[in-house]
Amino acid sequence: MHSSLKFTFTFLAVALVAASCSSDDIVYKDASAPVEKRVEDLLKRMTLEEKLLQLNQYTLGMNNIENNLGEAVREIPAEIGSLIYFGDDAILRNKMQHRAMEESRLGIPILFGHDVIHGYRTIFPVPLAQACSWNPELVRQGCAVAAQESYSCGVDWTFSPMVDIARDPRWGRVMEGYGEDPYAASVYCQAAVRGYQGDDLGAENTIAACLKHYVGYGASEAGRDYVPAEISDQTLWDTYLPPFEAGVKAGAATLMSAFHNISGTPASGNHYILTEVLKDKWGHDGFVVSDWDAVVQLKNQGMAADDKEAAEIAFNAGIEMDMVDDLYKKYIPQLLEEGKVKMSQVDEAVRRVLRIKFRLGLFDKPYIEEKPESERYLLPESLDLAERLATESMVLLKNDDGLLPLDIRSRIALIGPLSSVRRDHNGNWYGRGKETDVIPFNEGIAEEFSGRLTVAEGCDFEGDDRSGFARAVAAARESDVAVVCIGHKSRWSGENCSRSTIEIPQIQLDLVRAIKATGTKVVLLVSCGRPVDLHLFEPEADAILLTWHPGTMAGRAVAGILSGRSNPSGKLAITFPYTTGQIPIYYNRRNSGRRGTQGIYKDITSNPMYQFGYGLSYSTFEYGPLTLSSENVSRNGSLQASVTVTNTSSRDGQETVHWFICDPVSRITRPVKELKYFEKQLIPAGESRTFTFDIEPMRDLGFVDRTGRRYLDSGEYHIIVGTQQATITVTD
Ligand code: NOJ
Repeated sequence: MHSSLKFTFTFLAVALVAASCSSDDIVYKDASAPVEKRVEDLLKRMTLEEKLLQLNQYTLGMNNIENNLGEAVREIPAEIGSLIYFGDDAILRNKMQHRAMEESRLGIPILFGHDVIHGYRTIFPVPLAQACSWNPELVRQGCAVAAQESYSCGVDWTFSPMVDIARDPRWGRVMEGYGEDPYAASVYCQAAVRGYQGDDLGAENTIAACLKHYVGYGASEAGRDYVPAEISDQTLWDTYLPPFEAGVKAGAATLMSAFHNISGTPASGNHYILTEVLKDKWGHDGFVVSDWDAVVQLKNQGMAADDKEAAEIAFNAGIEMDMVDDLYKKYIPQLLEEGKVKMSQVDEAVRRVLRIKFRLGLFDKPYIEEKPESERYLLPESLDLAERLATESMVLLKNDDGLLPLDIRSRIALIGPLSSVRRDHNGNWYGRGKETDVIPFNEGIAEEFSGRLTVAEGCDFEGDDRSGFARAVAAARESDVAVVCIGHKSRWSGENCSRSTIEIPQIQLDLVRAIKATGTKVVLLVSCGRPVDLHLFEPEADAILLTWHPGTMAGRAVAGILSGRSNPSGKLAITFPYTTGQIPIYYNRRNSGRRGTQGIYKDITSNPMYQFGYGLSYSTFEYGPLTLSSENVSRNGSLQASVTVTNTSSRDGQETVHWFICDPVSRITRPVKELKYFEKQLIPAGESRTFTFDIEPMRDLGFVDRTGRRYLDSGEYHIIVGTQQATITVTD
């Protein structure tokens, strides 16, 4: 029999069985029935085609206007599982949903997904910047605002947080994650999941989270996107998997499989990570969506011979939903007939998708209230939060002779390509953010300072046009201080934005040098979505403030720090290399067999430009002695390490204390230091605060082996805080 005929026949047969179910008690429509009962009830009523459509995600592409409902959108089956939805109001979404609820046989709601990465309309700093705030509560609140704004526009599901550990700033997507440290990324991951999903996925203003890109995507070779990564099992377990495990524990509804190939097995065809680890070991009961076209790309990666085999491999590996490449619907019927896929697997995949739809409350409340824009986004409290997060994300890298904060009456020359731009402050992946919403640096500073502000860009981001230099130099000469806004365009970071160098273009360095030559003090504002090479800029500047891509409230946040209305408190969540040639460089590498001058670079320093955890404040903090509640701890015991920090300045300030551990001798050698806890506290001027790290030996001192088994050796460990170190002994 011809396969499509066979398919139709099978379909009819299943449809008849499905139709014969009693319709008196429709459990799946009963909002008071337990989710699992509803899932099973619905599942047994579904035809194969209906099931397979649930495993498909379509896109509206550019057809995101209401008028298109009668055209391209019509072609999308009403039974579709999910749509990547690019609209920004609830109207089109509700119309699509009405089709699903009313025109499909079973009335299964569509799940609308969107890339809400660092805000939806109110744009927060890029996630890498947010990580530098060391304030997971603010990150949680930012995600909650993103959830509220996107929910009110019809989004049910965000493809965020991205928790790929990244140690190569040439990779453009380093901006989307929380930096180089597995513990910090785990904490932020949990904060983001809680922010998006709240306590109850079914409540209003909550959306489903998606941990991505599972797993190790940040290890792509040489910082190039999509290419293979070499990841040992040990590194997979001790570095790349922890944030995902933390996110699963926090209840993340979904995960997205990554594009790249992990040491011979592409992530999207990888049974070990997608099924054995995620489902069997961690017990995740939501679903995995492939990244865009990741299933069909198994052919390019050399794992599948054709589309059908790509579908077979991805599905059997554990990807339940196929993002846009439509292969499951096309090939699973045939794969079932050939015995390459089992019906029980199809049911289990559908069960997982339906479970999330039920948990989101979509069956009971499928439509979104169509509210006016003023009630949906850019609410005053959201903008306040965006300013606070932007402020806390910025990192003061240099402040010679206390140049900052500036006198409010200062005459300022605002120079550089980022002086007046708006769009670049939103960073990449800016949701539905609009550049017109952004407060640019010039506006924020003009509003904050009472002295004269002269704006003279001097040059563009790149190129050779130095015709603006003279005006910028003249402005600097006539001012008390030159604030030079340099860095990268937002579009230089993000997906498919790999760069061979992390330098800032030469023309910007030439501009800074010309300004420095005037003798006027120079403050650099550095905007970027990745660590950049600042080693040639550093000597030219009296002060340097790293702003990252700060989002909607860019100008106001920067102005607050320049004037002293805000006290900087950000610290780097990723190492800033001295030059591109040092990459990869990260704080938690393992020790070398040789010390001293052995194995270091002979042409440049082997130290980074700015290390992980570095960042200055306008306050000065003094650390008291590191104290331990005991020097010995049994394997099941607990122990406290404490340090009292005093703000010795006359300015209130926030300090983050990072607690590291070190296991100096271990059968699986470990990093020189490992972050295990951090805490940020406001310390009023002249006052002291105590910071305590509650140590649980297995959790904080233990390690994982290459199979993911956690173990704890007895013996000595170091506890490190600031410049101090203490030794504790774990006894049997
Ligand atoms: C591809 C990106 O890798 C992923 O992060 C994103 O969520 C999807 N496209 C959907 O836009």
